[in-house]
Amino acid sequence: MRHPLVIGNWKLNGSKKFIDKFIIGLCHKLDEIEGCTVVIAPPVVYLDQAKQAMCNSKLLLGAQNVDINCSGAFTGEISASMLKDIGAQYIIIGHSERRSLHSEDDQVVAKKFFALKNTDLIPVLCIGETAAEKIAGQTKTICARQIDVILQLQGAEVFQNTVIAYEPIWAIGTGCAATAEQIQTIHKFIRDHIAQKDSKIADQLIIQYGGSVTKNNAAEIFSQPDIDGVLVGGASLILDSFIEIIKSASTRQHKI
Ligand code: 13P
Repeated sequence: MRHPLVIGNWKLNGSKKFIDKFIIGLCHKLDEIEGCTVVIAPPVVYLDQAKQAMCNSKLLLGAQNVDINCSGAFTGEISASMLKDIGAQYIIIGHSERRSLHSEDDQVVAKKFFALKNTDLIPVLCIGETAAEKIAGQTKTICARQIDVILQLQGAEVFQNTVIAYEPIWAIGTGCAATAEQIQTIHKFIRDHIAQKDSKIADQLIIQYGGSVTKNNAAEIFSQPDIDGVLVGGASLILDSFIEIIKSASTRQHKI
């Protein structure tokens, strides 16, 4: 069974004070909500503090990036084993902001994916098309290309216990989310694409949507059969909104 998964990607936001207040408040609320895995991915400098604040709660720790290297002379980088050491489990890779602002291409993202798998961490592989690619009708081609680099190098089995996050770039931070039907079409395409290689792996794959998810559109998004979770940016920084999104996800498990 695919368990609903909600991840808060805090991007370049937060402070020591904010993290303690938010995470303690969230942990408290999570005691009342069943049936949903919830992860917070704060900026790397706050990972340890966030982990301490999570204490023995159900909340899990994520991170926003990882380096392709294990150790050595790579100034400023963070390795998979360091993330594991600090207690992070779900690691976002291939986010469009990293692809565009840090020139990370599909090959680099694939190396990050394998570095995480080798360390028993869970990659959250972000894929998605630009507005221009959408208009040109290239959404499926782009998504397939971003997955195929990994699929062709290591086969479908490497997608066991991993997450794909479909994040159309035109929907990120714009307030203009994709419709539930648009998302379902692409998620089904992603699952079918992997099923061509291995249907069992495709069936267990968690496919999240990201891009202007709010407490107002979450329930509608979760009404679709192939939408297993959401990767939330802005709304994950507002405690009440994030909790409402988690509540929408928690009712999702009955339909999977
Ligand atoms: P927003 O929810 O702010 O659109 O961000 C989505 C995102 O990029 C999550 O990774």
